[in-house]
Amino acid sequence: MSALLKVEDLVVEVQARRGTSTPVDGISFEIHRGETLGLVGESGSGKSLTAMSIIKLLPTRAVQMAGGRIQLDGVDMASFSPRQMRDVRGMRIGTIFQEPMTALNPAFTIGFQIAEPLRRHLGLSRAAAKKRVIELLEMVGIPRAGEIAKSYPHHLSGGMRQRAMIAIAMSCEPDLLIADEPTTALDVTTQAQILDLILDLQEEHGTAVLLVTHDLGVVAQACQNVTVMRRGTIVEQSSVIDIFEKPSHPYTRALLESMPARNAGVDRLPYIAEGVFE
Ligand SMILES: Nc1ncnc2c1ncn2[C@@H]1O[C@H](COP(=O)(O)OP(=O)(O)OP(=O)(O)O)[C@@H](O)[C@H]1O
Ligand SMILES: [Mg+2]
Repeated sequence: MSALLKVEDLVVEVQARRGTSTPVDGISFEIHRGETLGLVGESGSGKSLTAMSIIKLLPTRAVQMAGGRIQLDGVDMASFSPRQMRDVRGMRIGTIFQEPMTALNPAFTIGFQIAEPLRRHLGLSRAAAKKRVIELLEMVGIPRAGEIAKSYPHHLSGGMRQRAMIAIAMSCEPDLLIADEPTTALDVTTQAQILDLILDLQEEHGTAVLLVTHDLGVVAQACQNVTVMRRGTIVEQSSVIDIFEKPSHPYTRALLESMPARNAGVDRLPYIAEGVFE
């Protein structure tokens, strides 16, 4: 079966007064339907710029996709008009970022923000959208959904805001979910809950997930395959089992060794039992 997302030789350049830098320098990977791919690497290795390139939302004009090709279901995404891209974002690709406060609009209620893509992309009536908002809030484990729908983002805890973001991302049942450090800003218990929620929804809806993280514990728990980035390039790419059992690149080995052994949720890692970290 052909890949849902195929990224080939992606290059991202940054123009600055001091010259041009290339924080993403020839990245290739594929994600198939229903698969979870982990994109890992140290801070600044280019993970977020890679993720943002896919949805064509690079942070500033100075940051540009300078090479490569991204295909969604066999179609080159360069051929999409801005209007088609708006439909892709939300309808076909949902996104969750590290800090939900930057993605949620402080001026609108949670309910309004979840209803917006339902009305715009799916054409639901006001009443139908309202009903669906409550269902979505319940789906992501938000209690008193009716009340929360009327609240503004700053009234919610970090974990609740992240749940609301997931509700927005999943609202139109996208084929692909891009989750960039979705749990990093949360406390350990909430991290585990949010990760479980993403995995449950994925299983239920068959969504493919690009999971950007620096946490190999999260990778072991959630991903089938993993791409390891360093300084804008790929140093290793394989199944999660192979990475943990026989990391071939010294950088991956160092990453595994630096992993806090008593990490959050580490008891749930299948590999611990086999003594890989001992
Ligand atoms: N808005 C920007 N303007 C200029 N350069 C940027 C910008 N965003 C990122 N960069 C450059 O690209 C590099 C990669 O950034 P990116 O955000 O993709 O890293 P990352 O792997 O997601 O790191 P982290 O784990 O800290 O989130 C950075 O080190 C920085 O040099
Ligand atoms: Mg990042």
